[in-house]
Amino acid sequence: MRLFCVSGVRPPPSRTFLRKRNFPMEPSRNWVAEPVRIALLGCGTVGEGVVRLIRRNAAMFERKIGAPLVLAGVADRSLKPDPSLGLDAKLITRDSAALVMRDDIDIVVELFGGHEPARTLILKALAAGKDVVTANKALLAEYGDEIFRAAGKVQRAVGFEASVGGGVPIMRTLREALAGDRHRAVYGIVNGTCNSILTMMTEHGSEFAQALAQAQRDGLAEADPTLDIEGHDAAHKLCLLVTLAFGVRLKPAQVYTEGISQITLADINYARELGFTIKLLAIAKDDGGIEARVHPTMIPSHHLLTGVSGAFNAIYVHSEALGPSMYYGQGAGQMPTATAVMADILEIARHRLAGARGGAHPLGYPATMVDRARVKPMDDVLCEYYLRFMARDRPGVLGSIASILGRNGISIASVIQQGRGVETTVPVIMRTHEARERNLKRALAAIRRLRVVQGAPAFIRIEERL
Ligand SMILES: NC(=O)c1ccc[n+]([C@@H]2O[C@H](COP(=O)([O-])OP(=O)(O)OC[C@H]3O[C@@H](n4cnc5c(N)ncnc54)[C@H](OP(=O)(O)O)[C@@H]3O)[C@@H](O)[C@H]2O)c1
Repeated sequence: MRLFCVSGVRPPPSRTFLRKRNFPMEPSRNWVAEPVRIALLGCGTVGEGVVRLIRRNAAMFERKIGAPLVLAGVADRSLKPDPSLGLDAKLITRDSAALVMRDDIDIVVELFGGHEPARTLILKALAAGKDVVTANKALLAEYGDEIFRAAGKVQRAVGFEASVGGGVPIMRTLREALAGDRHRAVYGIVNGTCNSILTMMTEHGSEFAQALAQAQRDGLAEADPTLDIEGHDAAHKLCLLVTLAFGVRLKPAQVYTEGISQITLADINYARELGFTIKLLAIAKDDGGIEARVHPTMIPSHHLLTGVSGAFNAIYVHSEALGPSMYYGQGAGQMPTATAVMADILEIARHRLAGARGGAHPLGYPATMVDRARVKPMDDVLCEYYLRFMARDRPGVLGSIASILGRNGISIASVIQQGRGVETTVPVIMRTHEARERNLKRALAAIRRLRVVQGAPAFIRIEERL
């Protein structure tokens, strides 16, 4: 670490000089380390938040790391200098590749989003000896293996706290605070859009389409909400949670993914009658093989996760020695996400100033120790189920359905049958005991062929003992 004198009166004493005279090795208040210089790629929602934090808290950050933190350049194709942001127009460039390669840059903060050019720029930055911070879960879920191995090879750090749970510090918690324990299961409410929609359906009695339109008006859902409502965003985040929790890697294509677009208000109301609430959960379990699945899930209405509403996120972790613990907070948004990015920048800056390379292993394991996950096929997963059939209101219907379920090894825990009327179709609601997914699918296919059953049966997995 090079030192320079703030007052500029005389050069600092060397470390050898200080050591020989038993002086403390840390610089005094008058002597600060050289600035840590940051390049920001992308000044949209999150990038702007990072700029605001650097400006607002510059003095505090300098005290925290013992050196000034300097924003040395910003690459963005559509950024107009905003006076309220106080960003010097001279810092802004469209040439992100040139910015990344500049000799004076220490940390590259990637907030473009998407796969390219983010992947190429991160790899270039690492090869050039820069550390990297990113919030890009889509990129890390798909190309994390390549990026973390590249970082390991050159002993540079990759911070990615903001990629899961926005402002909720779950990555650092799994990697550091819970490092001494073995984790059995992770349950995450990690998509604010889905959680807001399900909350509106549950609390205000909205149908899915109405709740989605409201979420779009409130800025909680994108104009094209597919990535969120079909569960893909949560699947990206689950890939990272699995690696941090269990030390294995998997790709989004290996995560069983089902969104919330088929959930009806009727399901929400029947769930309530049975004592459950429906949430989109990202679930990972390790019991020999890895279960990795994202789907609407019925959880007991008294469970802590039920209270996580609107755009909030929570990750509930079951650890062997600690037992259950939950991490809760703002899962997205400009300033919450920017705080997570800032925490990574500060941690890396401290490591750089201490002369360390690479920081702690960003995944909690050296990248070379992270094997491919043995993912349990969905057919082998054991769950309890909520089933909804539309059936003709005739004698014997319940018996026909129950006998098909029984032949497939599925026993019924409770039944709700409503409505009475000649030749009308009524909903039949059942809750099953634990059964294998393979058996359930086989039974539902047979039930669908019954002439008294109309349309495709609906089913939702239940996690009663989470
Ligand atoms: N927003 C959140 O609450 C949140 C939470 C957690 C994680 N994240 C992650 O954080 C990252 C950034 O998200 P964001 O919401 O800040 O996105 P955003 O608002 O779209 O900002 C991205 C900025 O980068 C610019 N950009 C993108 N590609 C570029 C390129 N090739 N060259 C130059 N400029 C480029 C965009 O310009 P254009 O507008 O012209 O495209 C935009 O100004 C993403 O990976 C996202 O998944 C976001």
